[in-house]
Amino acid sequence: MQNVHAMRPEVRAEYERLRGRIDGDAAFGVRFERFFTELRDPLFALYGTDERFPAQWAALLDAIARTAAQRPEELRVLDHEREITADWLHREQAVGYVAYTDRFGGTIQGVRERLGYLRELGVGYLHLMPLLQARPEPNDGGYAVADYAAVEAALGTMDDLRALAADLRAAGMALCIDVVLNHTAREHPWAQAAIAGDARMRAFYRTFPDRTEPDAYERTLPEVFPDIAPGNFTWVPELDRWVWTTFNAYQWDLDYTNPEVFVAMAEVVLGLAAAGIDVLRLDAVPFMWKRVGTNCQNQPEVHDLLQALRAVMRIAAPGVAFKAEAIVSPGDLVAYLGAGRHEGKECDLAYHNVLMVLLWSALASGRVALLSHTLGAMPRVPRNAGWVTYVRCHDDIGWAITEEDAAAVGEDGFLHRRFLADFYAGEFPGSFARGARFQSNPRTGDARTSGTAASLCGLGQALASGDAVAVDLALRRMLLLYAIAFAHGGLPLIYMGDELGLRNDPAWADDPAHRDDNRWMHRPPMDWEAAARRNDPASVEGRLWAGLRRLIAARRATRAVHAQTTGDPFPTGNDHVFGLERRRAGERLIVLANFTSAPQRVHLGVLHGRGARLDAAAAVPDGRDLRVEGEFLALQPYQFAWLSD
Ligand code: GLC
Repeated sequence: MQNVHAMRPEVRAEYERLRGRIDGDAAFGVRFERFFTELRDPLFALYGTDERFPAQWAALLDAIARTAAQRPEELRVLDHEREITADWLHREQAVGYVAYTDRFGGTIQGVRERLGYLRELGVGYLHLMPLLQARPEPNDGGYAVADYAAVEAALGTMDDLRALAADLRAAGMALCIDVVLNHTAREHPWAQAAIAGDARMRAFYRTFPDRTEPDAYERTLPEVFPDIAPGNFTWVPELDRWVWTTFNAYQWDLDYTNPEVFVAMAEVVLGLAAAGIDVLRLDAVPFMWKRVGTNCQNQPEVHDLLQALRAVMRIAAPGVAFKAEAIVSPGDLVAYLGAGRHEGKECDLAYHNVLMVLLWSALASGRVALLSHTLGAMPRVPRNAGWVTYVRCHDDIGWAITEEDAAAVGEDGFLHRRFLADFYAGEFPGSFARGARFQSNPRTGDARTSGTAASLCGLGQALASGDAVAVDLALRRMLLLYAIAFAHGGLPLIYMGDELGLRNDPAWADDPAHRDDNRWMHRPPMDWEAAARRNDPASVEGRLWAGLRRLIAARRATRAVHAQTTGDPFPTGNDHVFGLERRRAGERLIVLANFTSAPQRVHLGVLHGRGARLDAAAAVPDGRDLRVEGEFLALQPYQFAWLSD
């Protein structure tokens, strides 16, 4: 191992200790040297080098070395490939699909049998919703994990999961699963040991003998589920203490000021890498560190923890990527991709919830000013990172529009958010949407929104009315939103059922464990009968399926959709038409999108000024011809165009 001599002495000392265990793996030594300080510095800053930490530190390095040593050859090849193609998740080929294992395929084995469907659609990335062993229902859709080393029994086994990962790998597809870092179920053995009186395990959680500290925190804490789980603390009689529970009462927040917690969760993450998982969706990361007097989200220490975890993975299994789930405001969001001293050292991907919210805002209002302004003011994507762009997911839509952004375009933030909640609940005059309010908060007046993309776009109502024009408009709305998600730059995700226009699940409340959480309305079971119509161009399913396939094909042919491109909204001279320009390596993509059900016109000078060519290809992803009327480009209702230069 040639570069051992080039190692800094402090790295070399640690390396020598591990060396015997990694079996002459030269690449490990290189990675160890490269990422050592990225791992050590944040951990020493958080935990000090006092008596307690050295033992944990040694345990962590051992776990890293063990994972690396046991990594099968096939995964090492993949590691190598991804070290070379570091932007593998950011390229134009990348398109993902998100599904519940049970709702899509029944079991993991069932999902394996359905991979042909995903290949036909053209996706290369599959995110399966939580599938590790959860507490019995209610379990927040699996986000209350009782055993990180086992798969939910009804879905299969760890071996099934490994087999699925291998199938996907053979098909050139990647597998993403959730890892819930912020909390465990109260049924997790750590919590159960705490209840049984184990003080060491109790120190894994944040518990309090009385209300003094909880009350101090509550003064500045928001509530995530004000309806179903008000407050952030739960009294646990068996412990005779209050436990920090940001989400539901059965989800106990872990205490990351305890280094044992960090090391235990790092071992969880390493275990999943060993199972052949390609991407880990890090759930609810903003909440991992608490500070009195704040909202206890996005604390600087969260970024230290993420940097350290990333370095753990880069040394042990560098092919595994991280996707942050941080549903926070624009100013806080970009930090999860690594900013400032963390640049290039945090997550490869983060959900662009701001884009998602703005798309629905523009669709409801028919105006693009807020979308253009807010996107234009977003910080640039940091080096080696990219967004996940999406239209819908399994969660509600929280109307994260700031007062400042609204004011910048002459809107009132509160009123606009209220308009959106009303509009998508179908309670605003003229609304086409049929969603529902989620977690109305009487104290703040805020409400979030549930509903599938199809229902929010008016498909249910249109089909019920039998009005072919209304059906057409609803489908156009869905494809318009997806067209922006596909063009924006980033890894676009298709949420299960959107490719068929699945509406809200009418039976969602029949299950008593789901009754008080209406997010279940937009988690319908896959409708395989509807899927069977996907090749009928006259059907609703056929039109959406074909529309998404056109977008996937257009993306593959457009390098400017790469996640690490620069992109800027631009004024089109028409308040209802969104303009976006993206550039990469001398190539340009210019997108125009009409957010209304009326025809709109854009002066040709706007396009010529950007060097955009108005050829037939520009119309292909939308499927309708582009018309020129005199000096104007005429866009039909909800029509979009992808132009090159
Ligand atoms: C994430 C999940 C959400 C869940 C929460 C708590 O936000 O997306 O569904 O309720 O974390 O785990």
